[in-house]
Amino acid sequence: MLYELTKAAHLISLFVWIGGMVAVALALRYPALIHMKPLKAYDRAVTTPAMILALIFGILLGVQGGWFTSAWLGIKIVLVLVLSGLHGALVGKLRRAIWDSSDQVVAGGRVFLPVGLGLLVLIVLLVTLKP
Ligand code: HEM
Repeated sequence: MLYELTKAAHLISLFVWIGGMVAVALALRYPALIHMKPLKAYDRAVTTPAMILALIFGILLGVQGGWFTSAWLGIKIVLVLVLSGLHGALVGKLRRAIWDSSDQVVAGGRVFLPVGLGLLVLIVLLVTLKP
């Protein structure tokens, strides 16, 4: 029961985290300062805490289930680190665009969405198929 509840908490925080990342990726692709400022506040208040919780609940699941010796989890953690780095890069670009008061399309803004969604697909396949 505790394991299932931890998994539910892992998934809920993941949805909130990924939802926040998609919003920032779209804001960089179709920039408008009026949306960027509230998004930065939302990221700080909701998305970043959700990311931290998703990672904590993931680690708890790994400990409770004794998964840390499994190869799939090792690969998953590497991909998760890349996804977390992508979140940092997105927020950095958002801050810079706000700082520059720029409504211009952010360099590299188009790649965030496909790269992030690609990572998500790989991570979910890894955790469900456990190759
Ligand atoms: C430190 C980071 C993470 C660790 C240690 C971790 C670990 C785990 C573990 C041990 C499970 C339970 C597997 C099972 O019971 O079969 C799990 C479930 C899951 N994780 Fe993570 N996870 C992490 C981050 C993520 C991220 C970033 C995503 C997605 C982007 C993700 C997606 C999922 C999904 C969809 C499940 C449910 C799979 C199922 O029930 O079949 N995890 N995670």
